[in-house]
Amino acid sequence: MKIIDLRSDTVTKPTDEMRKAMFEALVGDAVYGDDETTNELERLAAEAVGMEAAMFVPSGTFGNQVAVLTHTNHGSEIILGANSHIKWHEVGGIALISGVLAHTIKENENGLMPIEEIKTGIRTEDIHHPDTTLICLENAHGNGKVLPLEYMKAVSEIAKAHQIPIHLDGARLFNAATFLNVEAKEICKYVDSVQFCLSKGLAAPIGSIVAGSHQFISKAKRNRKMLGGGMRQTGVIAAPGIIALEKMSKRLSIDHDNAKYFRDQLDKISGFEVNGGRDINLVFHQVDNTIDYQKLVSFLKERNILINGDEYGSGRFVTHIGVSRDDIDYTIQSIKDFLKE
Ligand SMILES: Cc1ncc(COP(=O)(O)O)c(C=O)c1O
Repeated sequence: MKIIDLRSDTVTKPTDEMRKAMFEALVGDAVYGDDETTNELERLAAEAVGMEAAMFVPSGTFGNQVAVLTHTNHGSEIILGANSHIKWHEVGGIALISGVLAHTIKENENGLMPIEEIKTGIRTEDIHHPDTTLICLENAHGNGKVLPLEYMKAVSEIAKAHQIPIHLDGARLFNAATFLNVEAKEICKYVDSVQFCLSKGLAAPIGSIVAGSHQFISKAKRNRKMLGGGMRQTGVIAAPGIIALEKMSKRLSIDHDNAKYFRDQLDKISGFEVNGGRDINLVFHQVDNTIDYQKLVSFLKERNILINGDEYGSGRFVTHIGVSRDDIDYTIQSIKDFLKE
């Protein structure tokens, strides 16, 4: 029986085409620059985001951390969203690895840090201040909203005026591009470096890309090596990454449409209220106190549907290549059955 896994888009499995590509991949020692498949992935990735160079890294967290380390100096300060992945979900890596202070700005419900607060967050040359060495943005934001291009542009103008680079956590960059109906490079033209995940909605089994200028990537490669990310015959994992980039990035509107369908159905169920960002493949919802979410998790599991537990009554379902309309109908029916019991 099929398992319907709604916990995240990180649960996607490589397609048959990806597995075949893995089997056939040309490989070499990537630290020597000899892995042709990885070189090709990096070339295609740089092109896709409109940057000079790119490098393959093991995960999104790795990519963000290596980017922060490469842009900043120990003891300096970076500006980032209070709810950003880099701040919340990367085990405090920016403090440990880069030794930077986090100047956090609370994002509004659209995932945007108010422009005025970014401006005032940039430190002056006052002898008491640390230097501001980086601004981090997240697009799509983890709250399900996509940052508009005008906003990216406005932040980039401030950053340029102060000669501060911008790093973009684009774990779901292609979801953002799909929503905005632009190529990924249109988003990335406002930033100095970007990290995007091949392993989420794009369905590759492993890996992320960090892209930036030649100079940035050559420094970042040294940092990648230092952090233990100098992998060898990476062609076997880069090969599905190429398919992820070239093919899977073009099918994300299906996941977005399915998420919309899911929200519409869920909203009709009494006790459920759809909330949060509705731009991509994330279905945020709140339940009222008549619903025991933990019991719902167990009930659905019995029916081969996997969901995460709630946080204070808030839950999140995620659509991806492994979730069809029928799966959503089955899940909705199962939730109704649960509420009947
Ligand atoms: C916005 C964002 N950034 C970074 C990451 C980290 O990616 P990884 O799980 O590959 O480390 C995630 C993962 O969910 C994410 O949602």
